[in-house]
Amino acid sequence: MRVLVSGGAGYIGSHTVVQLVAAGHEVLVVDSFVNAKPSVVGRIEGITGQHLPVHAFDLTDKDKTERLFASERIDAVIHFAGLKAVGESVAMPLEYYTNNLESTLSLVRAMLRHDVRKLVFSSSATVYGTDQDGATEDRTTFATNPYGWTKVMQEQILRDIGAADPTLRIALLRYFNPVGAHVSGTIGEDPQGIPNNLVPYLAQVAVGRRDQLDVFGDDYPTRDGTGERDYIHVEDLAAGHLAALHRIGTMDEPVATWNLGTGRPTSVLEMVAAFGRAVGRELPYRIVPRRPGDIAVSYADPSRAEAELGWRATRSVDDMCADTWRWQQANPQGYPDA
Ligand code: UFG
Repeated sequence: MRVLVSGGAGYIGSHTVVQLVAAGHEVLVVDSFVNAKPSVVGRIEGITGQHLPVHAFDLTDKDKTERLFASERIDAVIHFAGLKAVGESVAMPLEYYTNNLESTLSLVRAMLRHDVRKLVFSSSATVYGTDQDGATEDRTTFATNPYGWTKVMQEQILRDIGAADPTLRIALLRYFNPVGAHVSGTIGEDPQGIPNNLVPYLAQVAVGRRDQLDVFGDDYPTRDGTGERDYIHVEDLAAGHLAALHRIGTMDEPVATWNLGTGRPTSVLEMVAAFGRAVGRELPYRIVPRRPGDIAVSYADPSRAEAELGWRATRSVDDMCADTWRWQQANPQGYPDA
């Protein structure tokens, strides 16, 4: 297939592009580069050995989106592009609603106009709100912050569009906590500024960019009192996208929803210990108060994806840490600016 990947220069997008090319698909990327460095493109090309066509614009630009679809044959779209920082979304709700909703509307409008029927959409466990333990796909969706609401709303919009036009084939993929990097160590997660998420923060402590990890609370009703999450290796997650893309081609109904997680929760302190094993020394941390908005436990019930996609996450937490550490050591400041 000829697959358009929006946000293909981003963390999950870049790993998925590599797997799509390896599987024999032709890939084109659209990315605004607001949250990604252009140098990732050369890294992807280094792994695949192929030129990657990239269109640098924001999907909220309806005219450019329309022109792209008018000028390129596209068989399917994987839509990663979007703003994704929970805290920032609380401070800037209008930007989050505008960007995330308008980009999806612009993209889907162009798809329908040019008869592109297949879409794989990046959703999140955040659509389970405060109810993320052992989540199955039929659970009620709601959110606790504007970022989360944009995912709930985009899912609803896509379900409504699928109901109105049953010839569409749409996969809504709900990710749990993606971590890790490509085994080459040449592409990985490159947060701008102070990392919000646990594993990128730990990686920066390990490489000497940060003094110590702040563990947000040790008084949760969990095994060791720290928050538990379902960390999934980004390579397993990328493989889930390929499985979904292939599956929707033979699906009977227009819209399907799949959790992509391992089903196994890991606590913050367990992750600190695992990352220390990868690095070969214990990493410094201190316990601080809970982070507002955090929940105690989040993990998937991944059985629907296993049954319907024939997909399962295979990489361990130690694999995730070893691969993240390889990437961070080789790129202590992330991707180069030029
Ligand atoms: N944590 C720390 N210290 C840090 C960062 C995180 O102790 O510096 C803890 C958190 O309190 C939590 C766990 O590590 O218990 C994981 O936190 P992350 O920030 O890595 O991930 P979250 O589960 O909070 O958030 C992720 C995505 C969101 C998404 C959410 C789904 O980053 O985009 O999962 O519910 F919305």
